[in-house]
Amino acid sequence: MAVRSNLMWLTLALSLFDPTCSAGPVRQRAAVPDGFVAAPYYPSPYGGWEDSWKESFAKAQALVDKMTLAEKTNITGGSGIFMGKACVGNSGSAYRVGFPQLCLQDGALGVGNTDHNTAFPAGITTGATFDKDLIYARAVAMGKEFRGKGAHVFLGPSVGPLGRKPLGGRNWEGFGSDPVLQGIAAALTIKGVQEQGVIATIKHLIGNEQEMYRMYNPFQPGYSANIDDRTLHELYLWPFADGVHAGVGSVMTAYNAVNGSAASQNAYLINNLLKEELGFQGFVMSDWLSHLSGVASALAGLDMSMPGDTQIPLFGGSPWKFHLTEAVLNGSVPVDRLNDMATRIVAAWYQFGQDRDFPAVNFHSYVEGEKGLLYPGAVPASPIGKVNWFVDVQADHAQVARQVAQDAITLLKNDDDFLPLSTKSPLRVFGSDARVDPKGANSCGSRACNRGTLGMGWGSGVANYPYFDDPITAIKKRVEDVKLYDSDNFPLILNPKPTDDDVAIVFINSDAGENSFTVEGNHGDRDKDRLSAWHNGDKLVQKAAEKYKNVVVVVHTVGPLIVEPWIDLPAVKAVLFAHLPGQEAGESLANILFGDASPSGHLPYSITKKEDDFPDSISKLVKEIIGQPQDTYSEGIYIDYRWLNKQGIKPRYAFGHGLSYTTFNHTDAHIKIVNALSSPLPPARQPKPDVPVLSTEIPPASEAYEPAGFKKVWRYIYSWLSKSDADKAYAVGISGDKTGSKTYPYPAGYSTVQKSGVNVPAGGGQGGNQALFDTILQVDVTVQNTGSVHKGKASVQAYVQFPEDSGYDTPIIQLRDFAKTTELAPGNSETVTLKLRRKDLSVWDTKLQNWVAPGAEGDNGRSKRYVVWLGEASDKLFTRCFSDTLVCERGVEPPV
Ligand code: BGC
Repeated sequence: MAVRSNLMWLTLALSLFDPTCSAGPVRQRAAVPDGFVAAPYYPSPYGGWEDSWKESFAKAQALVDKMTLAEKTNITGGSGIFMGKACVGNSGSAYRVGFPQLCLQDGALGVGNTDHNTAFPAGITTGATFDKDLIYARAVAMGKEFRGKGAHVFLGPSVGPLGRKPLGGRNWEGFGSDPVLQGIAAALTIKGVQEQGVIATIKHLIGNEQEMYRMYNPFQPGYSANIDDRTLHELYLWPFADGVHAGVGSVMTAYNAVNGSAASQNAYLINNLLKEELGFQGFVMSDWLSHLSGVASALAGLDMSMPGDTQIPLFGGSPWKFHLTEAVLNGSVPVDRLNDMATRIVAAWYQFGQDRDFPAVNFHSYVEGEKGLLYPGAVPASPIGKVNWFVDVQADHAQVARQVAQDAITLLKNDDDFLPLSTKSPLRVFGSDARVDPKGANSCGSRACNRGTLGMGWGSGVANYPYFDDPITAIKKRVEDVKLYDSDNFPLILNPKPTDDDVAIVFINSDAGENSFTVEGNHGDRDKDRLSAWHNGDKLVQKAAEKYKNVVVVVHTVGPLIVEPWIDLPAVKAVLFAHLPGQEAGESLANILFGDASPSGHLPYSITKKEDDFPDSISKLVKEIIGQPQDTYSEGIYIDYRWLNKQGIKPRYAFGHGLSYTTFNHTDAHIKIVNALSSPLPPARQPKPDVPVLSTEIPPASEAYEPAGFKKVWRYIYSWLSKSDADKAYAVGISGDKTGSKTYPYPAGYSTVQKSGVNVPAGGGQGGNQALFDTILQVDVTVQNTGSVHKGKASVQAYVQFPEDSGYDTPIIQLRDFAKTTELAPGNSETVTLKLRRKDLSVWDTKLQNWVAPGAEGDNGRSKRYVVWLGEASDKLFTRCFSDTLVCERGVEPPV
């Protein structure tokens, strides 16, 4: 039997640790710096009061009411890693009442750990298209594939990490280093996936901006991301708010701590911010093996334990399941908290129609063959059976994948209009990145190696390639005279000898991933090769530039690269960032190289000249090994271009940069007020309407009894208790003090009385106060292809500049919306529309605990002048429009 993933071996190895070792020298948490607080917030707000979820909650409540205690605690936890058929997460079922085991599956770029699926371009590539239609189309195709495989829950999109640290290992799973780019892309991804009847999971809440020391283990706490209130709201929570506003069904917490409290049991994060302020109605799951506590995490708002095990897996232990049953019976966890957890999960299942004709899981994450272990974690005790049906879910999704890959390709430099190439030019191609891994595109589990064209990073956010369309094959289809030197060392002998007509195309790359794997000395983060090309790529370019007059550099990369060693060499005529294209690396690139289409991708991050153009808090990885590492966001709201603009540091290529073979101009721009910004604060929110009533009655112990004669699978995690344990717990629970406060040390601020929500003024609906999502300003601009040769798609990016006398320190410009034209022939034009919502014109006021629009009408003594800048990059702004005079003008000096 072939085994699919080395994650399995990794975890098995982990389990060989003696769990009793946790009694050893556990490192204490170090103090979180002053001012960073995870304030208590209790109780966990119920779901079910928001209009668009009401029907699903009513159905869910009816079903949950029929469940026994053990059934309820069963559906809130996984059955254990590698248990069940066989997704990366398998929740427990309540089949008696018709609720199935849910299949939770990676990854953010396609169905992971299976076959006959599409390996779509990564998030970062998708972000680089700056194309809403394509972002949505990719999501629709992905959603269809998840459903076709029987996966109920798509473990994406990823917006955390946001991309604060260029060295961060998993930035490529998300859409780019800007909250608005992430937020728009996440919302469209959620919409596209969920419309196919699959629950999306926005992750990781929050602050997982580096891989190193992200995870708690028995010897050391994971790092604490210390994020101040304003920064949290304006940057890191922003895309989650958009995701919740789009109706996302689930949220995954991060591995790390936030302001000193582990994310999976952080009441401030889950209860206060996510469930109260953002009005999240779905369920919250832990990241894998990051569930640390039983009662505390339940009180803090966690709804599902994934994959169910304790930190040291595969011993049948769990923080919940049978323990949660016990904690409910003995009164430590209030019964309504469990009812809310279970109802949120079942409601999400109804909300996306999964109660009707949902396909059975037809693949196995850890077995490639038709038959295999039904419960690999139980080896050798697992029965064997059919586990793979090889269902082909690809349909024509390769087309969407190719279009995304193509439209993401970002032309950074094109001296003398060197590109596109003629198919008549003799091409000399250098670098192992030009061709597929000779051992096979999927030869490394979780893509944890870098041996050919880099189509994705490594870790859980990957999918298997059904095939790999590599660049050299696509190039050879078009050009006769091609020679590939596929070594990363420049050849000693060039045969044929270079001529002036030759074009050298040098392929280089830079990889990163999850820190469950170390690849060529990089521990997930880019800690060894840093922001330089791997495999001596810089040298390869330099050597090629010595021998050839015309060099084109193609870069496959997880993020920014320092290009200084070669970017100004006269022979380096053109540079293309193809990001991480997934399976469609070849034709998408060839279409751009040879001019079938103009490049239209734009950088979803800035490329600086050196690493320390950013402050240490951004440019360095936190590495303390004594106590709890502290990752303090001392740069506040100033990351990426926000920081560079503030400091007056010119990057090599600014956020949003991307050239075309043609040129565009804005011929006409109009701004109008769609809704008046009549007061700085949004209208006061109302109390939550019709909050469900959930039972608080401790159920009889018999609901937890293990069925007589049931044959347990070894290491599988169950929710039953023995009769004597159940009876004992129940006796404590009903001993007069139903809250169990005699036995459980409840945290400060603990309460069981549901709040109306008015204590959190920024809340009120999904994503927050609904007025925050009202469009205030609309700008329409006509974009013309002013070239005479090439067709092309134009990107229009809208950046807001706050009123100068706003009273708040604000970044000079901030991206607020973007649009892309269709392919315009020379001379043709198209009008695109950009919208700015109340939230886009607001600042998070930490005193008021609300969003304040400082340029609102009203007697606040401040000017009402927001400037909306339109351009094709953060440093190429052509047009400005004023929100007060409603005038737009072109050709003015941009503010950066
Ligand atoms: C990752 C998650 C992923 C999960 C399941 C974790 O290691 O952080 O993003 O969804 O594993 O594979």
